Amino acid sequence: MRDLLPPSVAVAVATADDWAGELLAAEQAGLSEQAVQARRRDFTAGRVCARRAMAVLGLPPTAVPAAADRAPVWPAGVVGSITHTTGYCAAAAARSTDIRSVGMDAEQHREINEGVRRLVLLPEEEEACAQLPAGTSWPVVFFSAKETVYKVWYPIVGSWLDFHDARLEVDPDAGTFTARIAPARVDAADVVDPPATISGRFVVADGLARTAAVLLPR
Ligand SMILES: CC(C)(COP(=O)(O)OP(=O)(O)OC[C@H]1O[C@@H](n2cnc3c(N)ncnc32)[C@H](O)[C@@H]1OP(=O)(O)O)[C@@H](O)C(=O)NCCC(=O)NCCS
Repeated sequence: MRDLLPPSVAVAVATADDWAGELLAAEQAGLSEQAVQARRRDFTAGRVCARRAMAVLGLPPTAVPAAADRAPVWPAGVVGSITHTTGYCAAAAARSTDIRSVGMDAEQHREINEGVRRLVLLPEEEEACAQLPAGTSWPVVFFSAKETVYKVWYPIVGSWLDFHDARLEVDPDAGTFTARIAPARVDAADVVDPPATISGRFVVADGLARTAAVLLPR
């Protein structure tokens, strides 16, 4: 993840101990009493990483509660993103003077079935995946990139994006992607200068597809 983001973004990747780390009081409410152990451990690792990333920025260990919509609530002046998947968790944080919004996502690198592909990919994206170099499950890369796009979009705009609301182009050699957001979503956004395109980077390694993107301040 570190290599996918600019130097002004601090990145922390969980170590084995982080899944059994401590939550701050304000973060406890983000977990229901009934949360299963796996969810508890993922949520905890994300918060431990978030605080470690903020420490890299020179910030004190501040809670990152979960909003009612599940989005993380970063301290004033900070933007960030959290991702977890089996065996992997990372958080990114940056000062909002440097970065307008940041998103990142990690997925297991595997084939995805036709039903999920149809949900995630536009027909032209499905065709593009078939033309991209063999050896990579491109639909997973597209899926992860679209989740990253949503994590960049949502903290700014506060509205939903369907998977078909972003049309993705991938450059396999450069390890980059660009998402064009459906004009109707951009026009409907109740915010100054909503992003019409979101560009980021991806890498497939160690059994994971990882994607990340930032928007710079206006
Ligand atoms: C929110 C979502 C993107 C999370 O992705 P995921 O692969 O399921 O899970 P990840 O582990 O990568 O990310 C989970 C983290 O995302 C963060 N998150 C949740 N909702 C969020 C939101 N609205 N905005 C930004 N970050 C959010 C949280 O920190 C969460 O971890 P936590 O609950 O432990 O705090 C996904 O569940 C979702 O709702 N996707 C549908 C919308 C979408 O992706 N549209 C595509 C548009 S092109």
